[in-house]
Amino acid sequence: MSVEEHAVVAKPRPFWVAGKAESSEDTFQVRHPYDGTEVAAVSVPSPDQVERAVAAATAVAKEFRSTPAHVRATALDHVSAALAERIEEVAETITAENGKPLKWAEVEVHRAVSTFRFAAEEARRHVGELQRLDTDPGGEGRLGVIRRRPRGPVLAVAPFNFPLNLVAHKVAPALAVGAPVIVKPASATPLSALLLGEILAETDLPEGAFSVLPVRGSAMSTLVEDPRLPVISFTGSTGVGWGIMDSAPRKHVVMELGSNSAAIVCPDWTDLDLAAERIATFGNYQAGQSCIAVQRVIVHRSVAGDFVPKLVAAVEALRTGDPHDPEVEVGPLIDEDNAERVAGWIAEAEAAGAKVLTGGTRDGATVAPTVLADVPADAKVCREEVFGPVLVVSTVDSVEEAFEQANSTDYGLQAGVFTRDVQLAFRAAAELEVGGVVIGDVPSYRADQMPYGGVKGSGTGREGIRSAMDDFTEEQTMVLSDLPL
Ligand code: SIN
Repeated sequence: MSVEEHAVVAKPRPFWVAGKAESSEDTFQVRHPYDGTEVAAVSVPSPDQVERAVAAATAVAKEFRSTPAHVRATALDHVSAALAERIEEVAETITAENGKPLKWAEVEVHRAVSTFRFAAEEARRHVGELQRLDTDPGGEGRLGVIRRRPRGPVLAVAPFNFPLNLVAHKVAPALAVGAPVIVKPASATPLSALLLGEILAETDLPEGAFSVLPVRGSAMSTLVEDPRLPVISFTGSTGVGWGIMDSAPRKHVVMELGSNSAAIVCPDWTDLDLAAERIATFGNYQAGQSCIAVQRVIVHRSVAGDFVPKLVAAVEALRTGDPHDPEVEVGPLIDEDNAERVAGWIAEAEAAGAKVLTGGTRDGATVAPTVLADVPADAKVCREEVFGPVLVVSTVDSVEEAFEQANSTDYGLQAGVFTRDVQLAFRAAAELEVGGVVIGDVPSYRADQMPYGGVKGSGTGREGIRSAMDDFTEEQTMVLSDLPL
């Protein structure tokens, strides 16, 4: 595909201040990760425009939390329907800015369609609960009405790896509970969030209910520290996440951080072709740039001899190349610096004695899907989050050892356990220190309505529409007295 065909827009994209398109003289370029061609220029909000967005969110907060459910649900349904109508265009935008293969970009748009639809459904049934208070003599005739009220406007800081759906996971639950939201998209991938702003602007949401501000990273601290934004929902790197937590200790901060997720192949698992195919695919989808991409593959010795060659063959079958090519499964990393970093980590592991079973090479921003074995436990590819197409295989003699090895990391987002043994499945859930355990599949499985988030260094709080709605709100109890109960 030519440079011109990659271009999504010709003039700087406007941003969204309190629901209105605005621009400024200041711009930055978005480049296509595969070949570095310019995809679009984006206008950068000035400090005054940022201030107006925050002031509008603050001003509308009280009115917005009292809007009828049907108003919020209709807006969310509109976004879902509009994304569904524009799937090809939105997927092309994601591929152009992020470099993920078109077929994965389409999956992301379909997921965002569902994310907004789930949020509309939850907005309609978000009501709270009644609590009996007459359980003791002092509470006779009393009833508690417990409802959740927004904590206040939400600052949504989104990552580059799912530039649409991880924005959706912050915007949709905020709007569902009636909390204004200010989106700070990733600097590498602001276009999908800006497109979402365009669709949100078609709704009847009140002025100030949303803003999309592609400010530079250096300007983010103003937003993070602003007391008028009491909730921060952040997805991104562990260092930046804990930095936000430290600089805003009085805020309610939800953080989805990194991981180096493990897939465990247990001795009872017989369909080794399936396990190999799933692990190969989900170690390398989006070039490994998902927090729940498989990174560590822990295999029981009784099946390792058959399984490892199947895994290597499945990885070698993955086509790398131009993400616009429908046959390509593994595209570039987000930029060449990250590809260099990943290649450096592979080289470091090799120098420490690791065997490269396949891959290990780099061409520009693209790293060949790589499988490593005999990697020392202290190598970066084991300890840190690679966020690249690298699988590290190790062999264990028992499931206890597998669980211990899976837990021997600072992270804890999700784990996948290939077993059909229900006792073992429950043991895995009890033993593994993670926010989610996927039985019979890779850790990369995520349904957008399910609670999603980590323990340990993988963060705090949960996404998944209803869980995020809980995180963005707090309970208010109204006690009714003298009731004829
Ligand atoms: C993430 O990278 O944390 C998001 C994974 C997903 O939504 O599938």
